[in-house]
Amino acid sequence: MDMLMFQLQRTDSTPLYKQLYSEIKHAIISGKISVGAKLPSKRKLAEFLDISQTTVELSYSQLVAEGFIESRARKGFYALPVEELAYLDVQQDEPQAAAAPVEYTFDFNPAKIDTQSFPFSTWRKIAKEVLDEMNHGLLLSGHPQGDESLRREISRYLFASRGVLCDTDQIIIGSGTEQLMPLLIRLLDKQVLFGFENPGYALTHSIFDHYDRKAVPVTVEEDGISVAELEALNVDIAYVTPSHQFPTGAVLSATKRAQLLNWAAAAPQRFIIEDDYDSEFRYTSRPIPALQSMDRSGRVIYLSTFSKSLMPSLRIAYMVLPKSLLRAYQQTFLHYSSSVPRIDQQLVAEFMEHGHFSRHLNRMRKLYKKKLEHLTAALQEFAPAVKISGEQAGMHIVLTVQTPLTETELVELAKRSKIRVFGLSSYDVRATTAVPPQIVLGFGGLSETEITEGIAKLMECWKIA
Ligand SMILES: Cc1ncc(COP(=O)(O)O)c(C=O)c1O
Repeated sequence: MDMLMFQLQRTDSTPLYKQLYSEIKHAIISGKISVGAKLPSKRKLAEFLDISQTTVELSYSQLVAEGFIESRARKGFYALPVEELAYLDVQQDEPQAAAAPVEYTFDFNPAKIDTQSFPFSTWRKIAKEVLDEMNHGLLLSGHPQGDESLRREISRYLFASRGVLCDTDQIIIGSGTEQLMPLLIRLLDKQVLFGFENPGYALTHSIFDHYDRKAVPVTVEEDGISVAELEALNVDIAYVTPSHQFPTGAVLSATKRAQLLNWAAAAPQRFIIEDDYDSEFRYTSRPIPALQSMDRSGRVIYLSTFSKSLMPSLRIAYMVLPKSLLRAYQQTFLHYSSSVPRIDQQLVAEFMEHGHFSRHLNRMRKLYKKKLEHLTAALQEFAPAVKISGEQAGMHIVLTVQTPLTETELVELAKRSKIRVFGLSSYDVRATTAVPPQIVLGFGGLSETEITEGIAKLMECWKIA
C-alpha cells in the first residue's frame, strides 16, 4: 500500500489522529484501499508519517470501532467492505441554529384559546374511567369513521345547537379539519373547480394546492362570500365559513344563504363545504343555524372541530357528509382506520354524554364574551382612529386603523414592542393590503388585564392617542 496517499496537515487544528482516521476512511470508501488490503503496521506508518504510534493506534481503533477495518490476531489490520456505509462520506453541514422565536408579551394570535379555564379535574376523572382495565375493547381498532358513541354525541349536539340533522353514519371523525379536508377533496371528482373565500383560512388554500386541485379565490363582501362571483367563475364546490367568516368575521346574510343553497342545487356536481369552526361562540344574538340545516338538496358538507370548543391540541374534528357521498366515501376509504385514538374519542364522548361539554361551552361563551367586552372597551377609547368589525362571534376581531402607516408597518411596530398581531392581507392570496390598513386581533389566549394592557401598548407604539 502506498503510504504517500495519507496527507496530514500539522498546522490544522484537527488532531492528527482524526486526520489520519479520515484519510484512511475516505481511501477505503473511495476504493483507493481495496477490500481485504492489509494496512501498514502501526510502527511503519508512524515512522513514515513521523507521528507517534499512539496517534496511529487511536486512528486504527476508531476505524475498527466503526467497521472500516478489522484487526486480525498477530497479522495486522485489514480493510473491510463498506459499500453500505458509503453515505458516511457525506460532509455534514453544521446544524443551523434555529432563529430564536420572538418572545411576545401580548399575543393576539387568533388561533389561541383560553387555557386557564379548562376543567382539568373533570377531564382527568373521565380519563381515569376510560382507562379502566375493563375497557379491553378500546385497545382494538374501532370503526373507521370514528366510534359510534362519539358520533352519536356529535349528532345530538349538532342537532340541538346547530340544527344539523344527520344520522351517525354520515359523520366522519378525523384528526382536525386539516386532515378531513384532504379526505374530502380526494372523494370529490378531480376535475371540479373549488372556490375559496378570499381573504380566508390559509390552510385550505394550501390543501387544494398540495392535492393539485383547481381552486380560485372568491371575494368576501361585508355579508360573506360573493355568490355572483361563484357563478361567474364557474365554481363547482365552494368552501365557506358562513357563521363567522375567517378572518373578516362577516356573517353570511340570510339572502346570501338562500342564494348559495340555490346556487348549489342548480347543478349536479355542486357542493358547499361549510366550515363551522367557531360557531359555539356567538355573542350578539341567537345562534344562526348552520347552512346544512337549511339544505333540502343534500349539497352541504358540514365540517366542524373541537379545536376552539375544547382545545386545538386534541386534534379532533368531524365532517357530516350528505347521504349521496356516503357510499363513495365508504368505498374509497374502505381500508383506512380512524386517525383519532379511540381512548381520546371515548373521553370526548363521555365528556359530552354527561353534560360537561355543554357546561364547558356555556362557561367559555361567557368568558370570551367578557374578554371581547374588555377588548371593545379598550379600543373604544381610541375611536374613531380604530374601528372594530367581525365581533359577533368567535375569538378574533378585525381592526380598521386610520393611520398614515401601512399594514406591514403596523405589524412590524407591534412586533418591536413584543406584541403579536396579524395583517388582514396575510390571509389574502393576492396579499392585497387595504387602505386604511386592517389588523386581525385574536383575544382568546389573553386575560382581561392583558387585553387592556396590550391594547394600550399597541396604540402607543402605533402613536394613536
Ligand atoms: C377557518 C378554520 N377552520 C378550521 C379550524 C380548525 O382546524 P383544525 O380542526 O385542523 O384544528 C380553524 C382554526 O383556527 C379555522 O380558523
